[in-house]
Amino acid sequence: MAKAPLNFVCQSCGAGFSKWSGRCENCGEWNSIQEETPLSSGPKSKALTARGRTIPLTDLASKEAPPPRTASGLDELDRVLGGGLVPASAVLVGGDPGIGKSTLLLQAAASFARAGLSVIYISGEEASAQIRLRAQRLGLADAPVKLATETNLRDIVTTLDTERPDLAIVDSIQTMWADNVDSAPGSVSQVRAAAHELTTFAKKRGSAVIMVGHVTKDGQIAGPRVVEHMVDTVLYFEGERGHQFRILRSVKNRFGPADEIGVFEMTGAGLAEVSNPSALFLSERGGPTPGSVVFAGIEGTRPVLVEFQALVAPSPHSQARRSVVGWDGGRLAMILAVLESRCGIPFAGLDVYLNVAGGMKIGEPAADLAVAAALLSAREDAALPAETVVFGEISLSGSLRPVGQTENRLKEARKLGFSTAILPLGGKEGGSGGMNLTRMGDLTTFVGEIFGA
Ligand code: TYD
Ligand code: MG
Repeated sequence: MAKAPLNFVCQSCGAGFSKWSGRCENCGEWNSIQEETPLSSGPKSKALTARGRTIPLTDLASKEAPPPRTASGLDELDRVLGGGLVPASAVLVGGDPGIGKSTLLLQAAASFARAGLSVIYISGEEASAQIRLRAQRLGLADAPVKLATETNLRDIVTTLDTERPDLAIVDSIQTMWADNVDSAPGSVSQVRAAAHELTTFAKKRGSAVIMVGHVTKDGQIAGPRVVEHMVDTVLYFEGERGHQFRILRSVKNRFGPADEIGVFEMTGAGLAEVSNPSALFLSERGGPTPGSVVFAGIEGTRPVLVEFQALVAPSPHSQARRSVVGWDGGRLAMILAVLESRCGIPFAGLDVYLNVAGGMKIGEPAADLAVAAALLSAREDAALPAETVVFGEISLSGSLRPVGQTENRLKEARKLGFSTAILPLGGKEGGSGGMNLTRMGDLTTFVGEIFGA
């Protein structure tokens, strides 16, 4: 029996199904499945020898050493790209609508143009006049960038083929429309076709292409996740509404380290680079407060200090609340369970709130000990000693595991005026970076020594 065609596609994760359902089995998203007409499968190429040329790997090695990169001069952006823009690379910049992607890329376009690249900025969302207004506001009106407002993919590729820019920026991939694909703009088929076409153009012509993708919540429009696998580099622009900090994070990079971050601040005149994020994230901190703990973290290649804030209060509800911003909820539950079963400190009947100050998101398990310290400090209503940073991973047995880059963390803490660090025993011995070190083997010792419990 012939297999039923997978004409129903989840707009969130791109999984295909033979029939419609209310919830995607793959990613769990509700109302995200739409019917789409698949691309007609064209004639196959006759013989591999005729079409797919092969070359020995050794021929490549001698010709090209590391790819030549162009730095934009915006250090926060260059670092996240892995040291600058690589020719013939395809970059995806995802983020929530309104977070500042267009602002960032217009600034990037101007910087790359001033660094000597020929740049075309193609917008499918705004009129030229709007873009010009924005450029004026950002003080970039005189930058040598060419603008185009177009959504038809065929026209765009024709323009790019003629102009052969060093860099093409496409804002956004969801507004692009391929006339040979029979489904609505913004659908998975359209978004994939556009990403494929633009990536192919980048590889064939040696131009770099940066595509913008909106992260969508409603499931009607395909999100940037469905094209992540096609591009070389995936960056996400994040930030909490109500905070002016914006973080550009690389989640995939064929030409540099992943998990690198660049920090920006949204101002009245566009995005300003933040070269010392630790100072910024700690700027609103007062004296020692119960529930507040400074974590010495590493983001990509850079140490960053952030403040964890916890609040623990008797719950008026039958089921106590666990609320967390900027840290993983599952990991919080694990730490609460370890505190409860290994150290005998119950959190039942208590509401727990945990927050990372400044709208930063932390994914490192090295923050476990800082989280535990914040929770204990809030519960006991006792502040940690002043000028102390904390880091270390907690295992389910309650022992503390050493983490990488200890010396970098300590140096950054020293630079920002901290004098003491609480960290796990063991690990690679390095310098103390001028800090007093309190090393501990397990969580019970930590509880006893710091909180006398
Ligand atoms: P935008 O770049 O249009 O977001 P996106 O392309 O991700 O949808 O940015 C929109 C927000 O940024 C908007 O709320 C206004 C704010 N903004 C500033 O605060 N300062 C500025 O100089 C600019 C251009 C925008
Ligand atoms: Mg935009």
